[in-house]
Amino acid sequence: MNSIDSDRTSDNTYDAIVAGAGVIGLAIAWELNSQGASVLVVDRDRPGAGTTSVAAGMLAPTGELDFGEPALLEMNTISAGMYPEFVASVERVCGGMLGYQRVGGLHVALDRDEAAELRRVHDLQIESGLRADWLGPGAARELEQGVSPTLTGAVLIEDDGAIDPRVLTAGLLEALEKESVEVRVGTEVTAVRHRHGQVDAVEFKNGDRINTRAFVAAVGAESGRAEWIPDEARPPVRPVKGQIIELKGNPAEPICQRILASERVYLVPRRDGRLIVGATVEERGFDSEVTAGGLHELLREAYRLLPDVSELAFLNAVAGLRPGTPDNLPVVGPTSIDGFFLATGHYRNGILLAPITARAIADVVSGGEICGPMSAASPARFDPARTGASR
Ligand code: GLY
Repeated sequence: MNSIDSDRTSDNTYDAIVAGAGVIGLAIAWELNSQGASVLVVDRDRPGAGTTSVAAGMLAPTGELDFGEPALLEMNTISAGMYPEFVASVERVCGGMLGYQRVGGLHVALDRDEAAELRRVHDLQIESGLRADWLGPGAARELEQGVSPTLTGAVLIEDDGAIDPRVLTAGLLEALEKESVEVRVGTEVTAVRHRHGQVDAVEFKNGDRINTRAFVAAVGAESGRAEWIPDEARPPVRPVKGQIIELKGNPAEPICQRILASERVYLVPRRDGRLIVGATVEERGFDSEVTAGGLHELLREAYRLLPDVSELAFLNAVAGLRPGTPDNLPVVGPTSIDGFFLATGHYRNGILLAPITARAIADVVSGGEICGPMSAASPARFDPARTGASR
C-alpha cells in the first residue's frame, strides 16, 4: 500500500498530474489545459508506447456494436460525434493534419452462417437507430472490388471512421508542447500521497515529489496491478491481448477504400498504403508475445476476406494489451480518495472514447460531476464500500 497520509511539501504544484501518455492520458491533459488547469503528464515509457501503439484506430460505434451493451453504444456514439472538433482543436495548435477520416466500413459475410449472424447484428444496428445498409454481393463488390467473390452479403456503415493513433499521439504531443504542457517520459510513479483523504502529492522512482490537487491514472491494463494505486481505488481491469499485422501496399492503388471486416478479422487502410490487419482477442495475462498462431489466424482470415492482401509487403506485427473490464465499460471518474481519478478500462474502444473520457475527467477534476452516459463508467460500481455490494 503506497497511498499514505503525507506531511511534506515542495514548491512545484499542479492542478493535475496524469499518469499515462497514451491517447487517453494525452487527450485528458489536452482538455484540462484547454479548461485552464496546470497539468503534468508522466509516463514510465515513451508516449504512446502502450496499447495506443497497437490500436488500429477504428472510430466505429456502429461496426463495433455488440449485443447487450447499450451504455457503451451511447458513449461510443457521442465520442465519435466529438471527434471532428477534438481533432480540429489539436490540428489548430500543432499545425499538421492528423488524418482523421470518416472512411466508412463494409462488414462482410463469407458464408451462410456468417450471413445469418451479420443479419442479427444488422437488425440490432437498425433497432438502435444507427445508419447501416444491407447490401447484396453485387452491390458490395461494386464498392470494394477486391472483396472475396464468395461473399454472401454485407453491411455498409457510412458513418464509421478511422485515425492513425500514432499520428494522433504525435499531434497531441506537439500541441501540448506548444501549450507548454510538460510530458515527462521515463518517469515512474511510486506513490500517490494523500492528506486527510485528499490527494496532495505524487512521488517518483527518481526521488522527485510533486504536489498536485488531482491525480489521474490513465495507464490502461496496468491499472489492474499498479502497486501505487491504492487497493480501494484499484479497478478490476485485466489485460486482453491483441495481435495486429501491418502490411504495405501502393498508396496510389489502395487495396480497399473503407474499413473491411468479417466475423474474424478487420482491415483498416491508411492513406500511405499501409493496411492494418487486426486483431486477435486473447486472455493470456500480461503476455504480449507475437505468436505464429496469432499471425496465421489473422493472415488466413484477411486472405479469406480480401485475397489481394497476399500481394502486400509485410511490415511488422505487434501485440498489445487492451484494458478489459467485467462489463466491457470503461472505468472513468472519481474514486473514494478525493482527487484520485481513474481513466482506464476502455477495452476495444480507447481511441474512440478519448474525447468523451477527456471531457468527463476535466469536468470532474474541476469540481463538476460526470453526467450523461459516462456516469455508467463510474469506478464506484466496482467499489463495495460505495455500492454496498460485494465485488
Ligand atoms: N477495436 C478493435 C480491437 O480492439 O481490436
